Formats: sequence, structure tokens, C-alpha cells
Amino acid sequence: MEPLRTGISASRPDAWAKVTGQATYVDDLRPEGLLHGVTVRSPLPRAILKAIHFDPAFDWSGVVVATAADIPARNCIPVLDDDQPALADRLISHAEEAVLLLAHADPLVAERARRAVRLELEALPPVLDLHQAMAHAAKGGDAVHARGAVLKEIRISKGEGDGPWDGAFLTVDDEAETGAQEQLYIETQGMIAWADGNQVTVTGSLQCPYYVQHGLCAVFGLPPEKVRVIQAVTGGGFGGKEEYPTLLAAHAALLALKAGRPVKMIYDRAEDMAATTKRHPSLTRSRAAFSAQGELLALDVDFNLDAGAYTTLSPVVLSRGALHASGPYRCNHVRIHARAWATNTPPHGAFRGFGAPQSCFAIERLMDLAAQELGLDPAELRRRNLLRKGDTTATGQLMREEIALEALLDQAMAASSYTERRSTFARENAQGGDESPLRGIGLATFMHGAGFTGSGEKRLSSRAAVELGRDGVVRVLAASTEIGQGATTVFQQVAAQALGTGADCVQVEVPDTALVPDSGPTVASRTTMVVGSLVERAAKALRAALEADGLPPDAGAEAVAHALRLRGATKGPERWEESYEHPDWVVWDDESYRGDAYPTFAWAVYVASVAVDPLTGEAFVEAFTALQDIGHVVNPLLAAGQVEGGVAQGIGFALLEEVQWRDGRMSNNRLSTYIVPTSLDLPPITAMFRETPGGYGPRGAKGLGELPLDGTAPAVLSALDQAIGRRLTRLPALPEAILPCLSQTRENLHV
Ligand code: MOS
Repeated sequence: MEPLRTGISASRPDAWAKVTGQATYVDDLRPEGLLHGVTVRSPLPRAILKAIHFDPAFDWSGVVVATAADIPARNCIPVLDDDQPALADRLISHAEEAVLLLAHADPLVAERARRAVRLELEALPPVLDLHQAMAHAAKGGDAVHARGAVLKEIRISKGEGDGPWDGAFLTVDDEAETGAQEQLYIETQGMIAWADGNQVTVTGSLQCPYYVQHGLCAVFGLPPEKVRVIQAVTGGGFGGKEEYPTLLAAHAALLALKAGRPVKMIYDRAEDMAATTKRHPSLTRSRAAFSAQGELLALDVDFNLDAGAYTTLSPVVLSRGALHASGPYRCNHVRIHARAWATNTPPHGAFRGFGAPQSCFAIERLMDLAAQELGLDPAELRRRNLLRKGDTTATGQLMREEIALEALLDQAMAASSYTERRSTFARENAQGGDESPLRGIGLATFMHGAGFTGSGEKRLSSRAAVELGRDGVVRVLAASTEIGQGATTVFQQVAAQALGTGADCVQVEVPDTALVPDSGPTVASRTTMVVGSLVERAAKALRAALEADGLPPDAGAEAVAHALRLRGATKGPERWEESYEHPDWVVWDDESYRGDAYPTFAWAVYVASVAVDPLTGEAFVEAFTALQDIGHVVNPLLAAGQVEGGVAQGIGFALLEEVQWRDGRMSNNRLSTYIVPTSLDLPPITAMFRETPGGYGPRGAKGLGELPLDGTAPAVLSALDQAIGRRLTRLPALPEAILPCLSQTRENLHV
């Protein structure tokens, strides 16, 4: 038996079933007596619901109907606030808001029934985007949300007084804007529920089983032990299955309760894209002061997110965005003002990066502008300001860990031939004919805080366990979900390494709230670092028990397997459970926003090369180098996969993906009209890692999942600066924005 360990590209235990089509996703499940549920949604973004009309010509027999009036306890999906109803009952606050649920044994009849319902609505004036929200508030208009126009406000302040603005060598002002982005997991949202007055059980596609349980407890008025949530095989999440599945589970369970039969709800792509959460649109106004040597003296950031109609996760998305708004740069005078604004669009939610891609884009655009004004290469300006060990961040957090950013910058520049390409592209752009492509190279330096923000992990106080069965197999029990990212493989490697045995001895159980402890949500780049550590500690405790039984400390994998079988057969099942212990030096004050925002950060430098077709204005990324330091790399192949996928999503965010809104509804909610990069739109992506110890995951591992989304779009836009000779500050940078720049580019280059 080969011992399994971390640091190697172990194969995925979930791979075989997935590639052979044997894995059972929620839509593959067909329990006895199943009904199919559908949702009647508001076509208007803001309205009063006056009446619901059922077409008398339709045959309603066999159709189960559920409205807000059928909710047993509270009509609310509690997340950070309780402002979001499970079903609208009077006030409608966004288009696609769920008003009524229908179920039938035949999914086609259910769909026809949906079309036979008419909502009688009295339209109210909506606020549809950030610009409208700000203008409306400035005019003193009534807020569209009961809590006011701003759902969350954060201020971060570092440095006394007015700061070194007067007398600075250079002051730059910038404005950056990013649009909504769809998570576009391959598997759409789906859930099956069983319910009676005493017990609710759901299974479906989700990231956070205990979030779903919490929501169902509120809606059904049941204690946690009466609500069971089982994850089905899940085809991608990217944050899109962080909070939305709670709402869908409540809907399916409500219909199941009404019907007395199991109810399945599966969204098709159009409904999923129109109705579920997306990345928050953002508008950032920033100003910075620099010395003649390019030292960042002062930074002022006004960061705004469009929260949509309900609070959901916006306060914490805003928080992460604000905490990443000053980038990986040293600065003694920082003011960050962050606000999440209420609008009448579907609530925006978690999406890989969680606010950081928006604020990272803004600070990197600002750095590029300053480099231009100072006549410095963008890489050089960054080098002069990179955070080092011993510096403090905007919240006053002392950087205790080694920060290899400057080494990362050198390595990324060398690997991408940054300097050579930059001068080659400058020459070729100037000499090229009117039809030859324009090229540019650009980079971004950035970071991502691993785990929940501030005291978040302390509050979560996650638990995970290993259980030794009578069969001698060790089962990892955690609520962390496999959503394609490789959590199962990582846990198997970590547990086997701690035990000193092979893959055959360790299985990772499916998250089921009836069987696994609450190890927190599968979000925030926390699974490997935070939950992986708990799994490691639990497995080490079991190993210690084996040694107490007489297992020699130098036993091989086979001897450990034997000891497990022996102990399992005589004493099993036995469980070793561990709880999160907050590092005592991580001190955070939520009121003042001072202190240690994250226990550790992952660091990265990404370099993009782009070519622009001068006839169409289309930009194509030709080469991409992604270098990051995430402490220990548990599984190099999976880590590279995370980086490649994240870079692909980042390129989409930068150049292609535009959510088009018409009266508060996504109008391009089809894969034919919402354009994401395919393999043909992507360059070869070189993913590289440095391993500076510093994380507090297994062997110093940090988080990786979200990091690639933060720096990809800024690197691409920085490359575009050189290619087109103009600085675009709005994402996505579509051909429509690029083409008008080009006639001028050639003229400027040829003079
Ligand atoms: Mo995530 S975007 O923290 O689910």
C-alpha cells in the first residue's frame, strides 16, 4: 500500500463516477410519488401585489399551490438580516421575485399551470442600478428598502489628520466600474424536499448544508434536529450556491408540506440566470498621492456595491471588498469608505472573490494611472510599494509573516518575459500596418485573505471529525462540500498523511447534517486551511490512539492499515472530533475596523499578454502567467486547476461577460447571449506556485479558491493599456469600448 500524503497530485476519489456519468446529481434522483415544482415570479422590479388570478379555463386538478399564507412559521430567509421573504406577500422588491409555487406530477403540466397564473400588480417606481441609487439618495428620495438607501456602511481609517495630500508630488483621481457577473456553474440550482409538520428533509446542489438547515428552521419553526440537509453531487458553485439554495430548499419544502409528497425543483438555465444571485456591480472612486520617487503617500477610496433588493450577504461582501481596497501596498494614510446600496434587482451575492475582485480592479487601475503619470513602468511602481514583513495594512494589521511579493514579481516577470515583450510590443505597435494586431502586456500584484474576515472564524467555531468504523476504514466527517474544487481529495490526503497510511483506509463522507458536525460553510477560501487543519488534528488524535495501542511510531502504511482494522473490529465505531481554536494573536474590532482582518493572506503576481484586432476591436488574451504563494500546495494538479478555472472566469469578467439589464431584469439570460470564454477563447495558462511557510493549514497551507479572480481582470486591462494606448476603467471591456480608441491609437503612434 502506497502511503498517501499532501504535496502530490493524488487522484480524485470522485473522478471515476463523474467521468463515467454514474454520479447522481439531484435531477437524477426520482423518489416515489415525486412532484415537480415551478415558481411564479414578478415581471416588475417594484410593485404592490394586489391579487393572484388563476385562469378558470385551465384544469387545476392535481396542481398543488403554495403562497406566503402557507408558510408555517416565519416568512423570511435569515442570512445576516431577515429582510428577505421566502415568498413575496404584498410588496415586491425585484423582478423575478418568487410570489407563488406550483407542483404537479407531470413537469409539463406544472409549467402550463405557471403560465395560467396572472399576478395583478400595481407598479411602483424602482431604483435599478448604483448610479440611480446614488442620485435618488442625493435628491432625498424615499429609499426603496425599509432600512434605507444604504444597507451597510464601513469606514477604515489609518493615519492621523488630513494626510500628506498638500505638497505631494503627484495626485491622481480615478473611477472604476464593474458589472454583474453570472457564476455559471454547469449544474443549475436544484433541490428535492420531503416534509410533514414534524420533519423537513432536503437534498440538493449546495455549498453550505448548515446554512440551508438554519433557513429551514426559521421558515418551518422546527428545531435543527428536525431539519435534515444532505448534499447531492454538486456541479459547481463559485459562491452561487452559498445562499440561494436556502431559498430554493424553502420553496421545495413548502410545496412538499402542502402536497404530502416529495417535490423536486430544478431551474432551467434561463430561470437560473435571471433569478439567482450574481457578482455585485461596483463603482469605486479613488484618489492617491505619490512622492516623486513613486512612494504611495495617501489613499482615499470610495467603494460602492449594488446589493440588490435584500441584504443577504452584501455586508460581508462589502467588508471583504473594503479590506482588499488598498491592495498589497504599504501606505501610512488610508481612508476607505464602503457602502452597499439597495436597488430593485435580484439580490447580488457571493461569487468567488467576494467583493475583492471589484476593489482589486480599482486599486490596480489606479496604480497603472499613477505609473503613467510618473513615467514609471507599472511593475516598477508596484515594486516600490509592495507590503513587506513588519509593515501594517490599512486596518493596522502587522504583517508577521514572510511576504515573498518582490520575489514573486521578479519570477513572474522573468517567466512571462515581461520586460522584453513590453518593448517588443511598443515597437511593433508603432511600426505595424493598419490591419496588424495591437499588443500589450500588463500585470497585477495582489493578495487574498484566507478564511472568514475578522472574528468570523471564532464565531463559526467549526468542528470536524474522523470516525473509525468496525471495518477499519476511517471516515472524514465534515460539512465542507465537494463542489468540483477538490475538497474530498484534499481531506483524504490530509487525513491519510496524519495517519501515515494509504488512500484505501480513508473515505470522505457526504455532508449530511444528521451525520456530520458543523464545519462551517464551504466559502471564503477556508476549506483546506481551516477545516483541513481540523481534519488533520482529528486524524492525528486517532494515530496517537493507535500508538498507545502499541503501533510503532515508524510503522509503514500497511502496518497502520492493519492497526486500524484491529482497533476498528474491537472498539469501533469510535469518533475523534476537533473544534477550531482561534489563534490568540488574531485580534479584530468590528466597530472600528481595526486589527487583524485575516489570519493570513495568499500573495500573487499575474501577467497577461493581449492582442487587439484593429478591425473589430476584439481583445484576445494570448498568454497568461499566474504565480502565487499559497504556503503549502496540498495537491499541485488540483491547485493548477483552480488557478486555470479562476483565470478563465477572470478573463470573462475582464473582456466578455456582460449582464444586460432591461427594467431590472437580466435580458440576456441565455448562453447564446451571455458570452463566457470557451477553451477557444483562452490562452495557455501557466500556473506556478511558491511555497513560503506561513498559512496555518496542513503544513502551512493557505486558501486558494478565490485568489485567481482578484488579479486576472486587472492584469488583462493593464495589458490593454499598452495595446490600445488608452486606459479603460469599466468592465467588461467589450469591443464596443475598445474600437473607438483605436483610430486614435494609430494616429498617436504614427506621429
Ligand atoms: Mo464564496 S464567494 O466565499 O461562496
